[in-house]
Amino acid sequence: MNYFKKCFYVFATIGFALMVVNCKRVKKAEAGETGVAIPSQTVGITKSEFGTTPEGEKVDKYTLKNEAGMEVAIITYGGIISNLIVPDSKGIRQDVVLGFPTLDQYIESSPYFGALIGRYGNRIAAGKFTLDEKQYTLARNDGPNHLHGGLKGFDKKVWTASEKIDENSASLVLHYLSKDGEEGYPGNLHVQVTYTLNNDNALDIQYMANTDMKTVVNLTNHSYFNLSGDFSKTILDHVLTIRADGYLPIDKGLIPTGQIEPVSGTPFDFREPKEIGADINAENEQLKLGMGYDHCWVLNKQNAEMSLAAKVYNPENGRVLEVFTTEPGIQFYSGNFLDGTLPAKNEGTYARRSGLCLETEHFPDSPNQHNFPSVVLNPGEQYSSKTTFKFSTK
Ligand code: GLA
Repeated sequence: MNYFKKCFYVFATIGFALMVVNCKRVKKAEAGETGVAIPSQTVGITKSEFGTTPEGEKVDKYTLKNEAGMEVAIITYGGIISNLIVPDSKGIRQDVVLGFPTLDQYIESSPYFGALIGRYGNRIAAGKFTLDEKQYTLARNDGPNHLHGGLKGFDKKVWTASEKIDENSASLVLHYLSKDGEEGYPGNLHVQVTYTLNNDNALDIQYMANTDMKTVVNLTNHSYFNLSGDFSKTILDHVLTIRADGYLPIDKGLIPTGQIEPVSGTPFDFREPKEIGADINAENEQLKLGMGYDHCWVLNKQNAEMSLAAKVYNPENGRVLEVFTTEPGIQFYSGNFLDGTLPAKNEGTYARRSGLCLETEHFPDSPNQHNFPSVVLNPGEQYSSKTTFKFSTK
């Protein structure tokens, strides 16, 4: 073969190989999987029907987009973040939250995937508390205790929604009226939660509420993150930092004992970046009780200013999630109860520790623990709390 023919064959082969690789990447991207950086987009919101509840309530899905490659889908059932698409260090965009493709799956059995939690995030011991000498009894939905607002908490309600858009951000404003006596709580509570996706890849969640009777409130979001974007992997290789010198030890019902323990010298020390899997199986009574990490960390802060609470880094693809909050605590839950029975979005199932939650909140069981910051809301007062999930890469 002469020199020119040889060159031609070499270039033709390379060209063909590149074409095949590209085809595969495009196919994967079309299938919603990993693969290729998707072209640029502008700030916007789209709305579609997501289903109907057994009670006949229509549920919509809103998709918020920004200019920096992020996309957040929120359904009006539970105010659930069903998809959160984030670029990695190569610009590859993947969904980083656990969830389901259909409404029925959320209704049938969801461990609070992506949901708004209320009226009270986390546990209240024995489902009881006292306000002004009157005892209130709440639904008990976690053994003898009350968890995440009860049998039908805010995660299982259909919220009304309105859109707001400006040059740099897209917002979804959700409303829900929790009636006096719902799940045992006193007072009509008007709740407004605003999700705002900004152009700097930050998702703000602003919680507001007011009541007509003295009550308790502790609102949060229960997203399960897996920054790998591959739900067949666990989160044990994610590197976590929590800005907290102390955490709340729990009893066998996962209720705080009331003590604040220093993290120093324990598996709970995440003051310096540490792999989640590094100490999770350490011989430690608290890890046994929680079946892993399922505790509230007491953030290093003196007031309700917005400050960095936690940071998660995926060394494999460079994705970074920073959590900022006005709240005094953060519940880090390492997905210990996921057991491989729930179907994952694309294929397979959600295995133990395939997602992690960072629930910004007031401390669990505060209504019964008088040394904890107050969760009481009086008529005429405004409940206000803010958390930001900020994504970047390194
Ligand atoms: C919270 C709790 C966990 C568990 C999950 C939901 O994070 O602290 O114990 O109940 O919610 O499965």
